[in-house]
Amino acid sequence: MNVTERASAKINLFLHVGDRRTDGFHPLQSLAVFTEAGDVLRAEAAGQLTLTIDGPFAPGLAGEGDNLVLRAARALAAEAGTLAGASLTLTKNLPVASGIGGGSADAAAALRALRALWQLDVNDATLLQIAATLGSDVPVCIASTAAFMEGRGETLTKAAVPRLPLLLVNPGVAVPTREVFAALQERSGAGLALPQNGFADAAALLGFLRETRNDLEAAARRLQPVIGTVLEALAALPGVLLARMSGSGATCFALFADEGASHRAAARLRERHADWWIAPTVITP
Ligand code: C5P
Repeated sequence: MNVTERASAKINLFLHVGDRRTDGFHPLQSLAVFTEAGDVLRAEAAGQLTLTIDGPFAPGLAGEGDNLVLRAARALAAEAGTLAGASLTLTKNLPVASGIGGGSADAAAALRALRALWQLDVNDATLLQIAATLGSDVPVCIASTAAFMEGRGETLTKAAVPRLPLLLVNPGVAVPTREVFAALQERSGAGLALPQNGFADAAALLGFLRETRNDLEAAARRLQPVIGTVLEALAALPGVLLARMSGSGATCFALFADEGASHRAAARLRERHADWWIAPTVITP
């Protein structure tokens, strides 16, 4: 028996941060959306727990002793009291440590896949609790549908969003989340009134997003100035509705009204920046 789960990229369309809490984490408000672009996790019944990584960004994870996918598998097995193993294969299509929740989505996909493979009697609430112990972005990746994130990231409210094209660009620099938070200077705070039901169309979403920002963008740009170069290149593309950084970076995104414009923009950028990861995709509602 085997189970295959998609691990979609998570994009923070906005990200506001409040003052550091006594536990070291920051309260935040964010709108997380998911895309067709993503990693793929395959789980196959086996006596031992093993992980094989392939795909274009597999080398970025080489030598990482304790992958989040294995930690997720062990945490689920411990919670359920199972001794079952699994042969896991992760196809790493997303750049590593890049602000689009790749590792978190992989861990969430492992929890979903292994609950099914091992036929565990573990409910969604318990799966979310395990997810929260693995990282702030893992809970939202369990359902992988658009949601407002609050608290440390674990307080989730489903949000309707339109199926918009977006272009993802990563300049090939890894930015550790912890360092970006540590370099944070200005904060919007986490007290914004969030729309109750999400957004009926692109105009409603864009109207809201223009009143918000990613608080981590300035700090990440100071650490890796090439992020500024990416944002300027995205903002200059024809048909761009909004260009912004996701999460703690370095991946930036641009929203477009139609897929043709997004694909033309990707082709244009690839001519000038052959070394950047450039991925046109769409938001999955
Ligand atoms: O939870 P996660 O392991 O993804 O967090 C990585 C780091 O990012 C934390 O150690 C912390 O420094 C920072 N962080 C934060 N506030 C959050 C989420 C993450 O300060 N809400």
